[in-house]
Amino acid sequence: MRLPCVNSLYSRAFHHKFVSFGNFFQEMETFQPEIYEQIRKLKDKYATLGQDLESYLDGLLMSNTTTYWDYLNVDALLALQQPKTDFPDEKIFIMYHQVTELYFKLVLHELEQLSFNGRNVLRNGEDKGWNEVLSADYFVERMMRCNRYFDALTHSFGIMVEGMEPEQFKQYRMALLPASGFQSAQYRKIEICATDFINLVEKDRRSLYSGTTTGSMIEEMFEYSYWKKGATELATGEKTLTLRMFEKKYTDELVGLARRKINNNIWQKYLELSEEDQNRKDLQLALRAFDVNVNVNWPLEHYKSAVRYLHDKNSEDKASTGGTNWQKYLPPRFQKRVFYPTLWSEEEQAEWGKSWVENVFSKQQETLR
Ligand code: HEM
Repeated sequence: MRLPCVNSLYSRAFHHKFVSFGNFFQEMETFQPEIYEQIRKLKDKYATLGQDLESYLDGLLMSNTTTYWDYLNVDALLALQQPKTDFPDEKIFIMYHQVTELYFKLVLHELEQLSFNGRNVLRNGEDKGWNEVLSADYFVERMMRCNRYFDALTHSFGIMVEGMEPEQFKQYRMALLPASGFQSAQYRKIEICATDFINLVEKDRRSLYSGTTTGSMIEEMFEYSYWKKGATELATGEKTLTLRMFEKKYTDELVGLARRKINNNIWQKYLELSEEDQNRKDLQLALRAFDVNVNVNWPLEHYKSAVRYLHDKNSEDKASTGGTNWQKYLPPRFQKRVFYPTLWSEEEQAEWGKSWVENVFSKQQETLR
């Protein structure tokens, strides 16, 4: 007996959306065994949910096929670039920031899964919730994903540093005041998810906080975060408008996140592992690489762009849109932000970002001459 091709049977049924299921199932008798098996699995899946397979098959017949543009929301995505001026380079500035925010979202996606031990989704698609324990292999693999995302960002920063006309930048940036990348909430969230909050406190106050971290300590430490200090006029104690606007929008959300992360930020997840797993070289390397990527390599590439567009060899440097003392605020050697101090020697911490930053700055100076 000749078997009808499954595709042609399906497309016949599809093109006659209102085909009766009686006929459909009669024709099914000619299906190959694998198709029966698939249907049986589907039946089990919906039975477990107390649902009726036939209705869902109806839904499948009614549905349109997926298209690239709908699935990826391409039209919406491409409508999100709204320059405030007519300078053509402003679009580059907007899009590269948006691309970066998407990468930040990818990093947060991994950090979130890690903090709950990874998701257990069965092969049949059933979501069984979070895993009970975190496997060291999974830890390494997911940290390496985060490293690749940051690596991509670090290596693409030339799009900013070399890819815009300084003259155009000088003009259109004035239309963005007082907005600044400083206000990227996802950047702050990555930091909060990555480490114990004490490591985000301005460096001279870190020694004041020791012992078990409590929720109220988080609130105090939050006030003394390195980035708030960077955006505060030291003499008067006055916060920049950029900071005040950011606080108004994000304080509750970020403090809430920091409280939730007291016990399950990435460092705490590391400490939960057995001693043997903690000593794994690949895991320590993945965490150290993440520390360097977020706290040295990306900040240095970013700093290059500030030098290129804000440094003026003939007069005073230009003020940034966020109003920090950017020459002191951005270089990693001044902030000494380190997510995993225990994984670095004292000497390495003392040298944090130093040789790199000097190289970058002098190379940048050379190209400006
Ligand atoms: C021409 C390109 C850029 C320049 C000149 C620049 C300049 C600056 C400056 C001066 C600051 C310090 C805050 C302030 O005073 O405004 C800053 C902070 C920041 N910018 Fe940029 N930026 C550029 C591109 C980017 C891009 C593409 C991103 C991606 C999202 C970004 C994200 C950030 C973040 C997250 C901070 C806070 C860093 C921290 O707190 O350590 N910036 N930027």
